[in-house]
Amino acid sequence: MSANVIAIDGPAASGKSTVASHLARLLSIPYVNTGSMYRAVTYAVLQQKIDISDEAAMKELLNNMQLEYKADEAGNFSLSLNGVFLKDELVTPEVNANVSPVAAIPMVREKLKKLQRSLAEKQRIVMEGRDIGSVVFPDAAWKFFVTASPEVRAKRRLDQSRESYSSATLEEIARSIAERDRIDSERPVAPLKQCEDAILVDSSNMNVEETVAFIAERIR
Ligand code: CDP
Repeated sequence: MSANVIAIDGPAASGKSTVASHLARLLSIPYVNTGSMYRAVTYAVLQQKIDISDEAAMKELLNNMQLEYKADEAGNFSLSLNGVFLKDELVTPEVNANVSPVAAIPMVREKLKKLQRSLAEKQRIVMEGRDIGSVVFPDAAWKFFVTASPEVRAKRRLDQSRESYSSATLEEIARSIAERDRIDSERPVAPLKQCEDAILVDSSNMNVEETVAFIAERIR
């Protein structure tokens, strides 16, 4: 199972999603963004106004939610929650602010780990997240840890929206990214960290093509 996996981990807004999806396209294999799964659980928590410290309520939510990866109308492998494909709902400021605390809950991680493992049973796959090489697939065929300096990451996140922004906004985004990194790195379960056998990819001075080429060269 693990032999099918190219694991790409790294901190928030490091560019790993873009790099992972381009790499998967280059290799003609599916790409799975596990952050969107944590975001989908967070979206459901917010929608149903669940108190995340209420264990029974969290358990019920997780037992009753149908989270699947399946082909959407365009034939792309996409995440659906209770039969509905989710996209923009997953990247709201509200979800951004709540996803790391939700992702720190062991029962949430257990549920998503099972789903992630099942996806790699039958096919080669690029899977991206925080703990794919460390916890979900410790024997992954390839492990990369993609990072970039905090300033570059904040700028990349803002450039994605293509709107102009002030230096105050840049600072605010940098702060929210740093806060997510802090929670993700300090949590007891599956913390964000580079595993010893992962190849470090510092993309601060590389664009997407260069970063993908760097990884593809290692794999070849
Ligand atoms: O795109 P960005 O790097 O901002 O974040 P993401 O990959 O969408 O992940 C959102 C959040 O989900 C992270 O900040 C983590 O709290 C959590 N996450 C996780 O705990 N484990 C993963 N394998 C993936 C995401």
